[in-house]
Amino acid sequence: MLLKLVLLICISLSFVVQSKTVRETKHGPRPFPEGFLFGTSTASYQVEGGWNAEGKSENIWDYLTHNNPCIVRDCSNGDIANDSYNQYKRDVEMMRELGLDFYRFSLSWTRILPTSFPDKINEAGIQYYNNLIDEMLKYNIEPMVTLYHWDLPQKLQEMGGWTNPHVVDWFADYARIAFEHFGDRVKYWITMNEPREVCYQGYGAATMAPAISISGFAEYLCAKNLLVAHAKAYHIYDKEFRQKYGGVVGISISAGWIEPETEKDTQAAFESSQFEWGQYAHPIFSETGDFPPVMKERIAAKSAKQGFFRSRLPEFTPEEVELVRGSSDFFGLNHYSTNIVYRDETAEDYNAGPSYYDDIGTTGYQPEDWPTAASPWLKKVPWGFYKLLTAIRTQYNNPNVIITENGYSTSVGDGYEDNDRVEYYKDYLDAMLDAIDEGSNVTAYTAWSLMDNFEWMAGYTELFGLYEVDYNSPQRTRTPRKSAFVYKEIIRSRQLDYHYEPDTTVMTIDEGH
Ligand SMILES: *[C@@H]1O[C@H](CO)[C@@H](O)[C@H](O)[C@H]1NC(C)=O
Ligand SMILES: *[C@@H]1O[C@H](CO)[C@@H](O)[C@H](O)[C@H]1NC(C)=O
Repeated sequence: MLLKLVLLICISLSFVVQSKTVRETKHGPRPFPEGFLFGTSTASYQVEGGWNAEGKSENIWDYLTHNNPCIVRDCSNGDIANDSYNQYKRDVEMMRELGLDFYRFSLSWTRILPTSFPDKINEAGIQYYNNLIDEMLKYNIEPMVTLYHWDLPQKLQEMGGWTNPHVVDWFADYARIAFEHFGDRVKYWITMNEPREVCYQGYGAATMAPAISISGFAEYLCAKNLLVAHAKAYHIYDKEFRQKYGGVVGISISAGWIEPETEKDTQAAFESSQFEWGQYAHPIFSETGDFPPVMKERIAAKSAKQGFFRSRLPEFTPEEVELVRGSSDFFGLNHYSTNIVYRDETAEDYNAGPSYYDDIGTTGYQPEDWPTAASPWLKKVPWGFYKLLTAIRTQYNNPNVIITENGYSTSVGDGYEDNDRVEYYKDYLDAMLDAIDEGSNVTAYTAWSLMDNFEWMAGYTELFGLYEVDYNSPQRTRTPRKSAFVYKEIIRSRQLDYHYEPDTTVMTIDEGH
C-alpha cells in the first residue's frame, strides 16, 4: 500500500513536470489548420423532451426512468429536459451566437418510427427534424447527425435489443429511412455513439439503460451485433446514397487514454485499451479487421478454463469481418479523460466468476490529485488526449479523426464563471494541436455540450453546457457561460489564445451568421 502511494506520488510528479515543459514551449496564439471545423454536440434524449409528443413511442430511457426513477441520482428524467422539441429555434440561435461550423445532434428512433419498424413513419417526427435541419442550414450551420445515441425502442429491447442478431436489420431499416428523408441536406452521418457505453454499461453492467447487468456475456453479443449493424448501415449509404448526396458516414468511439502504472504494465495497459476501445476500433480500422487478437485469446482461454464449451466472445463469420472492416469514412472520437492501469489477474467487477474485467485482467484508477470535474470519472489530463491521438495515428494508419465529443462538467450553482471548463478546453485543444503537428489527421472538433442537459444516471447534477439552462423556467431559458464566449473567440479567430479574456456582458450574433 505504502509502496503504491510512493509510486503514485512519483508518477504524479513526473506528469506535472512533463506538462509544464510542454506548456512553456508555447508562445502566443496558436492557429488551427486551414479548413479545421468547430461544432457542439447534444443527444436526442438528453435535450429534446417531448417524450410522448405527437406520436413518439417509448424508448429504453423512457422505460427505465418511468419504472425505476431513482436509479437516476436525482430521480429525474428526460420527459421535458431542455424542451428542444419546442425550443429548437433558440438552439439554432445559440449556434449562431457561437459561430459554429456544424452542430451534432441525434435522431430519436421512436419519434420517427413509433412501431420501431418502417411500416409506420411518424410525419410529426420527420417534420421536427426537417425544421431543425432547415433552420440550421438557413445560417450555414452543417448538420452532423447521429442515428443512435442510446435511445433504443423499448419494444426492441423486449426482444433482446442489441443482443438479438436481428437488430442488424432493424437498425439498417431505420438508417435507410433516415438517409431517405434527410440525406439531401445532411452530409455528415454517425451511425452509433459510444459502443462501449451501449454494450458494457447497458448490458454488461447496470450503469446505463437497459441495465441488463450480465457481465462477461451480454456486452460481447451486443458488440458483435452493433458492429455488424453499423457496417450494414454504412454500406447502404455507400451503395445507394453516396453518389447522389456525397456525404460521409462514420462511427463515434469513446476512448480514454490508458497509461501503464509502471513500465512493466505496458502490455497490461495495451491489452486494457484493446478491450475498452480496440474492441470497436480494431474490427473497423485495422488492416485485418475482426476483434483484437488479445481479446479473442484471453476470452477463449478463460472460457475453456471456466468449463464453457466455446468462447463467451461470439465470432464474426469471414463475410462479417469483411463487411465491418473499413466501414467508416472517419474515426469519430469521444474523449474525456485518462486512467492508470496495472496488471491484476484477480480483477473482477461486481460479479465473481466470468466477467468483463476478469477477462481483461487489469485494474485502473485515477490519482486523487488530478483536477476533477463534477463527474468523478472526469479528471483533466490533457497529455492523455495527445497520447491517444498518437496511438490512433500509429495503430490504424492515420485515419481521418473527427473529435465528436470533448468537454467538462460543473455542478449546479457553479455559476457563469466556469474557469475550470475554460482551462480544460484550452489545454485539450492545445494537446490536440500537438498531435496534429506530428501528423495526426484531425479535421474537426466538437465540444460537449451546447447546453446543460440530462446526464443519464447523473440526471441534472453534472452540467456540461457552454450555455446554462434554467430548468425552472417554462422556456428552459439558456444563458451563455464564460466558456461560450471563449469558444466563440476560438472559432472566430481560428486560433487558441491562452491570454484571451472575454467581455461576458452581452452575447451577440456576428455578421454572416
Ligand atoms: C485527412 O483526411 C481528409 C478527409 O478524409 C483527407 O481528405 C486528407 O487527404 C487526409 N490528410 C492526410 C494527410 O492524410
Ligand atoms: C436543460 O434542462 C435542464 C433540466 O430541465 C436544466 O437544468 C438546464 O439548465 C437546461 N439547459 C438549458 C441550456 O436550457
